[in-house]
Amino acid sequence: MTNYNFIIVVKLLVIFLIFVSPKEILAFYDRFYGYAEAPMQQEIFDVSEFGASPNADSDNTLAFGKTWEAACNHQGRSKFYVPGGKFLVGEIEFKGPCRTESTMEVEITGDLIAPTSIKVFPSYQWITFSQLNDIFLYGSTNLEGRGDVEAWKQEGCKESKCGKLITSLSLANVSNAIIKDVSLSNAKGFHLRLHSSRNVTVHNVSFSSPWDSPNTDGIHVHSSSIVNITNSTIGVGDDCVSISTGSLDVLVSGTRCGPGHGFSIGSLGKVENEEEVRRIKVQNCTVDGAANGVRIKTWPASPPSQASDITFEDILMINVSNPIIIDQEYCPSDSCNTTSASRVKLSNIEFNNIRGTYGSDFGVNLKCSSLVACENITLIDVNLNGTKTSTDKWQQEKFSTKGWLNGLAVFNSTFN
Ligand SMILES: *[C@@H]1O[C@H](CO)[C@@H](O)[C@H](O)[C@H]1NC(C)=O
Ligand SMILES: *[C@@H]1O[C@H](CO)[C@@H](O)[C@H](O)[C@H]1NC(C)=O
Ligand SMILES: *[C@@H]1O[C@H](CO)[C@@H](O)[C@H](O)[C@H]1NC(C)=O
Ligand SMILES: *[C@@H]1O[C@H](CO)[C@@H](O)[C@H](O)[C@H]1NC(C)=O
Ligand SMILES: *[C@@H]1O[C@H](CO)[C@@H](O)[C@H](O)[C@H]1NC(C)=O
Ligand SMILES: *[C@@H]1O[C@H](CO)[C@@H](O)[C@H](O)[C@H]1NC(C)=O
Ligand SMILES: *[C@@H]1O[C@H](CO)[C@@H](O)[C@H](O)[C@H]1NC(C)=O
Ligand SMILES: *[C@@H]1O[C@H](CO)[C@@H](O)[C@H](O)[C@H]1NC(C)=O
Ligand SMILES: *[C@@H]1O[C@H](CO)[C@@H](O)[C@H](O)[C@H]1NC(C)=O
Ligand SMILES: *[C@@H]1O[C@H](CO)[C@@H](O)[C@H](O)[C@H]1NC(C)=O
Ligand SMILES: *[C@@H]1O[C@H](CO)[C@@H](O)[C@H](O)[C@H]1NC(C)=O
Repeated sequence: MTNYNFIIVVKLLVIFLIFVSPKEILAFYDRFYGYAEAPMQQEIFDVSEFGASPNADSDNTLAFGKTWEAACNHQGRSKFYVPGGKFLVGEIEFKGPCRTESTMEVEITGDLIAPTSIKVFPSYQWITFSQLNDIFLYGSTNLEGRGDVEAWKQEGCKESKCGKLITSLSLANVSNAIIKDVSLSNAKGFHLRLHSSRNVTVHNVSFSSPWDSPNTDGIHVHSSSIVNITNSTIGVGDDCVSISTGSLDVLVSGTRCGPGHGFSIGSLGKVENEEEVRRIKVQNCTVDGAANGVRIKTWPASPPSQASDITFEDILMINVSNPIIIDQEYCPSDSCNTTSASRVKLSNIEFNNIRGTYGSDFGVNLKCSSLVACENITLIDVNLNGTKTSTDKWQQEKFSTKGWLNGLAVFNSTFN
């Protein structure tokens, strides 16, 4: 009888020791004996412990995937870590949701190098973070997309011939994210793309590509809300930031833009039933050496949609061709349906304290639709000086309007 009870006790003890780790016992102890205030120990998942090796031609995609799996499934505080060195990594998705109990940290110290071939990206994305909540991505890494090596520098390889462009870093369905201090260079397409995401901060991030790179937007925001881009440097040859359909509450500040095509809303009105763009602010920025400063672009003959409550303020223009431009006849490839005007309604747009120089074309160019009015466009403290001294036609175009404008107001501004 006693013997039988003893066996049960031993069995229970063995089961207890097998299934409950010392860490859990300690955590339990902590909870009841006063150590609760000490932060939970962070577990670091280092790619080099999962077989990744830098400074080699070996493909580290599998090792990175395994590291992520372990880090993301860790129930506690977790960090995905890449040490110094150069790591060749192919198309990879860091997918959630994770089981981590606090912010999922991703610290990337070494550089990540994309494969040169553009044929090894079946999803047309290089590095993707998806279905995640609460993530912190930081480190001194440069995400080198090697777009300059093959994608389009190679003769004859244009968008049409090489298929879709490949985004370097994508956030898809991610909420409460911070991306900080990292650099991205030479993307094969967009550098950073935010899609269906919410509450994303991009701070002190640098984006660079040659001035003549096609479709290499710095940050493309699509169907996302509460996006905060601060203290960054973007010179990518195309739009520094492009804010597309379904974007709400986007703030860009303290950011330097150029060379490239400036800060853009759009292009809008390409397809049916586009979601509206609303509450966008670009503030305290410098545009240097760009085709446009601040721009809103919509396609001609577009289905109806709308963009409203947009503010551009405290912006310095240096060597910019079109500092302020609304273009509702946007047609980059000259192959648009021009049978009718744009039906994208633009309203409540303010340009405040925009100053500097422009080298050609127009100081202010408001090309509105003839079908729906640009409504409530306000310019306050706009001071722009043309720098060309010839008698070209552009000099008559310091301030140009076209189409239907309803409620245009200009205060305290000079156009030279
Ligand atoms: C978005 O991600 C969350 C997890 O963070 C997931 O539960 C949800 O199903 C995802 N939604 C879509 C549309 O993928
Ligand atoms: C946004 O995300 C940050 C960082 O993850 C978090 O601290 C903050 O509370 C979030 N804000 C909202 C409104 O969810
Ligand atoms: C910005 O990021 C760079 C590169 O990682 C870093 O060297 C620098 O210290 C960061 N600046 C600030 C103000 O944090
Ligand atoms: C945007 O981010 C910066 C830097 O992290 C922060 O100081 C600022 O409060 C944020 N603004 C908003 C509206 O979230
Ligand atoms: C923003 O960047 C500038 C220089 O680029 C730096 O002096 C400043 O400290 C940064 N601000 C923040 C909040 O990091
Ligand atoms: C404006 O942006 C610069 C960086 O370009 C930053 O150093 C400065 O603190 C910002 N000023 C304000 C008022 O946000
Ligand atoms: C103006 O910007 C263009 C790029 O858009 C650049 O090639 C040119 O050198 C710049 N000029 C000056 C005077 O900075
Ligand atoms: C051009 O746009 C008009 C008006 O939106 C539309 O009716 C027509 O079908 C379009 N034509 C083509 C070739 O797409
Ligand atoms: C524009 O030129 C006028 C004199 O013609 C000068 O007073 C003003 O400071 C200049 N503004 C800018 C932003 O360069
Ligand atoms: C334009 O401004 C007027 C006056 O502030 C306002 O009544 C009207 O609703 C605004 N239009 C739009 C489309 O918001
Ligand atoms: C224009 O400038 C005058 C004088 O500085 C100022 O009183 C007025 O408020 C300004 N108007 C606007 C719309 O900022």
